[in-house]
This record gives sequence, structure tokens and C-alpha cells, in this order.
Amino acid sequence: MAFVTAFYFGILLLTVSNPTSASSSKECDFPAIFNFGDSISDTGGLSAMYTPVPWPYGISYFRMPAGRYSDGRLPIDLMANSLGLPFLHAYIDSIRANFSHGANFATSASTIRAQNTTFFQEGWSPFSLDVQIWQYNQFKSRSQLAYNQEGVFEKLLPKEEYFSRALYTFDIGSNDLTAANYINMSRVNVSYALTDMLNQYTAAIKDVYENGGRSFWIHNIGPLGCHAYILDAIPLPDDQLDQAGCAIPWNNVMMDFNRILKAIVVQLRKDLPLASFTYVDMYTVKYTLFSQYKKLGFEHNIRACCGRGGKYNYSRLSRCGTTTVVNGTESIVGPCKDPSAYVLWDGIHHTQAANEWVFKQIVDGKYSDPPIPLRMACHKQA
Ligand SMILES: *[C@@H]1O[C@H](CO)[C@@H](O)[C@H](O)[C@H]1NC(C)=O
Ligand SMILES: *[C@@H]1O[C@H](CO)[C@@H](O)[C@H](O)[C@H]1NC(C)=O
Ligand SMILES: *[C@@H]1O[C@H](CO)[C@@H](O)[C@H](O)[C@H]1NC(C)=O
Ligand SMILES: *[C@@H]1O[C@H](CO)[C@@H](O)[C@H](O)[C@H]1NC(C)=O
Ligand SMILES: *[C@@H]1O[C@H](CO)[C@@H](O)[C@H](O)[C@H]1NC(C)=O
Ligand SMILES: *[C@@H]1O[C@H](CO)[C@@H](O)[C@H](O)[C@H]1NC(C)=O
Repeated sequence: MAFVTAFYFGILLLTVSNPTSASSSKECDFPAIFNFGDSISDTGGLSAMYTPVPWPYGISYFRMPAGRYSDGRLPIDLMANSLGLPFLHAYIDSIRANFSHGANFATSASTIRAQNTTFFQEGWSPFSLDVQIWQYNQFKSRSQLAYNQEGVFEKLLPKEEYFSRALYTFDIGSNDLTAANYINMSRVNVSYALTDMLNQYTAAIKDVYENGGRSFWIHNIGPLGCHAYILDAIPLPDDQLDQAGCAIPWNNVMMDFNRILKAIVVQLRKDLPLASFTYVDMYTVKYTLFSQYKKLGFEHNIRACCGRGGKYNYSRLSRCGTTTVVNGTESIVGPCKDPSAYVLWDGIHHTQAANEWVFKQIVDGKYSDPPIPLRMACHKQA
């Protein structure tokens, strides 16, 4: 298969003119976004599959739960809007689905590697990255059949040309690292597991390329060691916490993952010469927010706005939006007064305020390799 692919693309190279270079100043005019990932960019997938995201999720923007694990919009929402596109609809959500400008295959709790357990056993989404890619392939072929045969779908599905002109965005990996107990593994084992994970990541991207995808925008994973749920799950001694209060061993694993991911993107540029790849250093952006939150106008970094108990206002027994019984009285775990003063919304995910700040950092390419803005991400590195 690898050989066939290499051969096939060799032929293409001879017949297709060179893509525009990064120095070209023309905006890309992306007509659609196809997104793959986990809760960081889930706009309603898991919520449509199982039970809906509860109140008070969504309160700061949608004024109601909107399938997103935040009080408001996610970076992917802000990215879509900044490109003049509507919010992405979750592929798995059949109510009011409108995919004319893209689709979102991300579901919360997704991993790169299939976890071999059910959602009810361990809580991981059955839609691991390989499954998301199958769904995308099916979406592409079947949507075109419908588009061409029945008039009503012309207003609900993308045009065929959109698939090659679309932006393909990826943000996944951190759940693989928490699914396994990586901080207790030897470095040799960690590097083995990371290699397997990242091989599957590469295969997913190559699959999209073989199906015509040409513009890829890849987020690396954030400093999960700064999130309340990680800090709460495995309490570490003070000498293993950094100045921001983040768990050093966890963040080291995240950085190991990112180092390999970055090398893979470099290799992909060589292997898939017709595509552009933008690698976005979300880790640095988010770590800056956790460590300099005061300077940036936030009051809390690793404490949850919506949570109860524990050292970080987070306990897995009384998560945001759940009903708990305290001293015989039932109550819903609700939000803090001002979510915009917090970096973390529910101890696991970011507030809209944090997402907005993160989006502002990445949209112009300051944290990207190559350093080109979102709206120019169809251009190859010169
Ligand atoms: C799931 O099972 C397959 C087949 O046995 C195995 O190759 C894979 O590594 C397993 N995944 C994980 C995350 O353990
Ligand atoms: C779907 O969304 C697009 C873009 O926002 C819009 O032009 C189209 O009319 C919508 N389709 C329907 C059936 O409303
Ligand atoms: C990791 O290993 C340490 C030392 O052996 C042990 O105390 C700790 O419980 C382990 N952590 C987990 C989550 O298994
Ligand atoms: C770690 O790697 C060693 C050597 O390959 C292997 O024997 C051991 O089973 C691995 N441990 C885990 C937890 O994967
Ligand atoms: C529950 O009751 C105990 C004992 O009366 C009291 O100390 C505690 O503050 C109460 N907790 C809450 C959350 O009301
Ligand atoms: C913890 O979360 C609750 C909401 O459940 C909120 O009212 C409170 O302000 C938060 N506390 C801190 C110290 O962040």
C-alpha cells in the first residue's frame, strides 16, 4: 500500500502544476472545514450520541447547552467564523444538520488509537481517529450522490470541489495519553506507545490526502498537566509541580508527543508534496495562559469555574452540571459568577474566555510552522 501510494503520487507530481508557495499573498478562500478530534473541538458529536451536554454548559454564548464542553464557543468555532463560515455541525447529529460548509467528525473523549473498551466501561468515545476517517470517507462519497440526485441536498451538502479546497483541521492525542498511565511507564515504553499513536495519526492524514485533501492545519496537544482533572486524579508532591502549579511529569509526556508530531509533519511535507501543512503550537499558547494568567486578565488558572470540592474546585464525583446530594439536599453543580475570570471551565476544558485568547494567538500564524495566518493556510511552505 505504501509503495502503491508513493508511486501514484510520483505520477501526479509530473502532471500537476506546483502549488502556490507561502510567499504568495492570495487568501485561500476556504469554502469548508472538515475537523477531526476530541472535546477540544467537538461541536455536538458526543452530546448527540449519548446524553446531551447539560446546563450550565453554553451559558456564556449560546445561553443554553450547545453540545460543546465549554461555557461558550471553542477555537474551532472562532476559526470557522473568522473564515466567514458558519459553525461546524457534528457529523453524527441528525437534527438540523447543514453540512454545506463542512462537517465536524470530532467527538469528546476520542482517542487516536481505538481503546477496545466501551464508552460505558472506560468513558472513551467509540469514534477514535480511524473511525472518524471512515466517517469522512463515507460522508464524501455519499454526500455527492445525494447532492447530484436530489435538489434539496444542494442546500445541505458541500459541492464536490469543496473537498479539495477545504481546510482539514486536526486536534487530537491527549486522551490517548491519559487513557494509559504514561507517567508510570519507563521512557522506553512511553516512546513505543507514542510511536504507535503517531503512526496511526500519520495514516489518518495520508488517507485524507489520498481522498483529495490538500490543506492541513494540525494543532499539537496542550499542557494537560495544568488541568484540574489530571492534578486531582494523581496528586503529585510539590517538587513535581512547576511554578504555575502544573504537573511536570504529565507535561513532559505531552511535550514528547508534540516533538514526534512535529517531526511527522516535517516528513509529511516530503511524502505528500501537493499538500500544505501548518503545525500549530497550542502547547506553548496554552502554557503561556496557565503561567501568565494574571498578566492576561484572568483570576484563576488551574481551578475550575464550574465544579465542587477538591483542591482545585474539581471532583470527578461532582462534575459540572451533575446533580449531587450534599447533606441530604440535591443540587446541580453550577458555574462560578464570572467564567471569564477562569482559564478552566469544568476542570477538564477551557472557558470561552480562554478559547478566545488562544484563538487570537494562533489566527495570525505567530505560533505556526510555517508562520502563516489561518486564511493563508492553503499555501505550501516555500
Ligand atoms: C486494541 O486492540 C488491538 C488488537 O488487539 C491492538 O492492536 C491495540 O493496540 C489495542 N489498543 C489499545 C489502545 O490498547
Ligand atoms: C445551510 O447553510 C448555508 C450556509 O449558511 C445556507 O446558505 C443554506 O441555505 C442552508 N441550508 C438550508 C436548507 O437552510
Ligand atoms: C505510579 O507509581 C507510583 C510508584 O510506584 C505509585 O505510588 C502510584 O500509585 C502509581 N500511579 C498510578 C496512577 O498507578
Ligand atoms: C515496557 O517495555 C518492556 C521492554 O520492552 C516490556 O517488557 C514491558 O512489558 C513494558 N511494560 C509496559 C507497561 O508496557
Ligand atoms: C454539611 O453538614 C455539615 C455538618 O452539619 C456541615 O459542617 C457542612 O458545612 C455542611 N456542608 C454543606 C455544603 O452545607
Ligand atoms: C467553585 O465552583 C463553584 C461553582 O460550583 C463556584 O461558585 C465557586 O466560585 C468556585 N470556587 C472557586 C474558589 O473557584
